[in-house]
Amino acid sequence: MRDPSESRFLDVEGYKIYVRTFGAAHRERTLLCVHGGPGATHDYLLPLADLARHGYRVVFYDALGCGRSDLPAGTGLFTFEHDLKVLDAVRRSLDGDRVHLMGSSYGGMLALAYAARHSRHLKSLNSTGGLSDVPLAAREMRRLVRGLPARTRATLREYGARGEYLHPAYEAAALEFYRRHVCRLWPWPAEVASSLVRISRPVYNTMNGPNEFTIVGNTKDIDFTSDLRRISVPSLVIHGRYDEVTPVVGERIHRAIPGSLFHVFPRSSHLSFWEQRPEYLRLVAGFLGMAERALDLRATSAAR
Ligand code: ALA
Repeated sequence: MRDPSESRFLDVEGYKIYVRTFGAAHRERTLLCVHGGPGATHDYLLPLADLARHGYRVVFYDALGCGRSDLPAGTGLFTFEHDLKVLDAVRRSLDGDRVHLMGSSYGGMLALAYAARHSRHLKSLNSTGGLSDVPLAAREMRRLVRGLPARTRATLREYGARGEYLHPAYEAAALEFYRRHVCRLWPWPAEVASSLVRISRPVYNTMNGPNEFTIVGNTKDIDFTSDLRRISVPSLVIHGRYDEVTPVVGERIHRAIPGSLFHVFPRSSHLSFWEQRPEYLRLVAGFLGMAERALDLRATSAAR
């Protein structure tokens, strides 16, 4: 089947960033999607491309050091602030009006911080499994680890204490966490599996840590929750009931963003756009439509 997307490379400070667009004709209604990891690729977000059928230009990119984008030498550029710069460069490269911004997980964290600083460039914000307080998210993940079977916890403890995160026994135990709290479909959709298998280790190990629930990288102390009150666009905060970034984290975000909406998908963990795909897309299409109509209304009353 013909690939309905268009791909290009954007130069950001001398590094190539891979940008992929669906529904390119709808440039006045753009949804920009930001992946997580940190270090994953855009592929696991591809269900969002279905929104092209609702009249949106849907744009994805692979962050610096990830997927088809350049991998710089050294790890100095793998920081939250630099990722925000890349996000801004991608947003600016999209000719046209303001964009709807969506981010998943660490991508949600970028989207939240971007909205707190630059709401004027946005039409709306969607944070799916996002976080603004990493220490809280990490504490919540440790609570989820305590809910794993005793044998699994013992294995994680035993090998974790020796730093043997790549030992097959440790990896099998960690997979139990992923199957409960990252994606509950099994087998995982190919796009999810490949995004995780191809995760950029230089980025992930520098920014996150050896796995999802061991956050020891350079993002571990970030907490910008108090900035979220500056967000002035319609905002939708989505989590899954079993999400590794728990609804407790989501609720904190929702309470901090004025007038935001909060939705918890009951049969999902971290990737509700796969785990409850039709419901997710229905919710998001409705939200985007509402944000568009609110803007139209404002424009009409301003013209009067
Ligand atoms: N490490 C998680 C993600 O960004 C929170 O996917």
